[in-house]
Amino acid sequence: MATTLRSKQRSAFPPIKLDPSIRNQALRVHGGLRLAIVDGLLTPGARLPSTRELAEQLGIGRNMIVAAFEHLASDGLIDTRPGSGTFVSTSLPTPPSVVVAPDIPLVFGSRQPFALGQTHVDPAFLARLAAAARRHIADANPNDLAYGDPRGSLHLRRQVASFLAVNRGIRCDPGCVIIVSGTQHGLRLCVDALLAPGDHAWVEEPGYGVSRATLAAAAVQPVPVPVDAAGLDVQAGVSRAPRARAVYVTPSHQFPTGVRMAMTRRAALIEWAEAADAFIFEDDYDSEFRYSGPPLTALAGLAPDRVVYLGTFAKTLFPGLRIGYAVVPPAALERVLRRRAGFDRFMSVFLQNAVADLLADGTVASYLRRSQRRYRTARDQLAEIIRTASHGVLQPDIPEQGLHMIVRLREGLAPGLSRMIRSSANVEALLLAETFMEETEAEGFILGFSGYDIDKLQAAATALGTTAHQLAMKDMESAAAG
Ligand SMILES: Cc1ncc(COP(=O)(O)O)c(C=O)c1O
Repeated sequence: MATTLRSKQRSAFPPIKLDPSIRNQALRVHGGLRLAIVDGLLTPGARLPSTRELAEQLGIGRNMIVAAFEHLASDGLIDTRPGSGTFVSTSLPTPPSVVVAPDIPLVFGSRQPFALGQTHVDPAFLARLAAAARRHIADANPNDLAYGDPRGSLHLRRQVASFLAVNRGIRCDPGCVIIVSGTQHGLRLCVDALLAPGDHAWVEEPGYGVSRATLAAAAVQPVPVPVDAAGLDVQAGVSRAPRARAVYVTPSHQFPTGVRMAMTRRAALIEWAEAADAFIFEDDYDSEFRYSGPPLTALAGLAPDRVVYLGTFAKTLFPGLRIGYAVVPPAALERVLRRRAGFDRFMSVFLQNAVADLLADGTVASYLRRSQRRYRTARDQLAEIIRTASHGVLQPDIPEQGLHMIVRLREGLAPGLSRMIRSSANVEALLLAETFMEETEAEGFILGFSGYDIDKLQAAATALGTTAHQLAMKDMESAAAG
């Protein structure tokens, strides 16, 4: 039997909360009743007051109540039985309990030394970026507010093209530049568009795990190819995966070793790619920061028809900006753009335009000069502390470029010692071994040094160096004893 609310709860009805922020009265009543039904305050089969009674009780026009009831009926929450009244539906789905997001502790990056991917962000630069973004939003024209070119802002693409011409020896039409949210996004987009599931792609060993994961996510099989003092060993690639359709490389500053790919290897790689009709994905992630020696021209400057060039503002400016770019060979452009149309279309143009303004007026260039000075100081202090605090157990390889340093362990120590040092020193360092795909005995660390307060960096370097020394001493004592 239906519960007659009128007889039992007349004075208490409606047991509903009306949200005053909902301006439309019918929607307000609908929302209140809906919540009461879903929360179980009004149980299945309960009779609702008539529209006239409810209108009187709530002081709301009856037509609003009728509209609310119609809306509830179309939601399937109430049934009107002519001649008997209106009842809460008896076939309600079980009301869902409050939906709580699972606790997934997945935050990318860390703010603790020596995590990679930190950059120095100065308030003056942010103020200029904010002013530029505000200007672009306030002065937005209808084109900025509509759907647009999947390549992103032409203003930024032009700036990127001239930046690359001046700094990286790449002469490209802004039409071949695609603005993406970072290297990873650009790689995924181009891999999806240009490779097929099951294709093989050479990757550097050791190398950048994020890109390996990106290839794998696109069902492309990464094949590890060793890196030596001249960069990726092209001959080894040919013997490991002769039919690979692509290669992912960091030739200007190999991640993580810091090796600069020799010109002979560059030529060999391009020759192989031509013969195999394969794409070269060139990740030029930190070329803006060179501390000594001239930069080598990017591969894309040597073989623009073969190379998909990936650049990012994650290092130049900061990762949270999520702006990067891909320069795509003209013949591949349409495939990539069609793919993008079904992917994320394009990114918001306001920040792109703001960044373009700061590239055009020299703000980025002077910010880069200031940051570079900081990073050089951080690099030198880190290397010095690591060397002295570890008494030579840790051997830093001072990079000519970039924002991380590779630090190896002196030879002859127990396997696995780096891992023990990291956990005893309680630092965030990436282990060299963690950058390999295959089993390795490589010992050492990859230390990010940019973007940290110098005091914090010094403290972490001292902790790492001292711990390395202590554990190496213990290791040598137990080796001598046993
Ligand atoms: C080798 C390499 N490539 C690219 C990036 C930048 O990636 P994204 O632009 O996707 O943030 C990084 C960042 O640490 C990197 O180490």
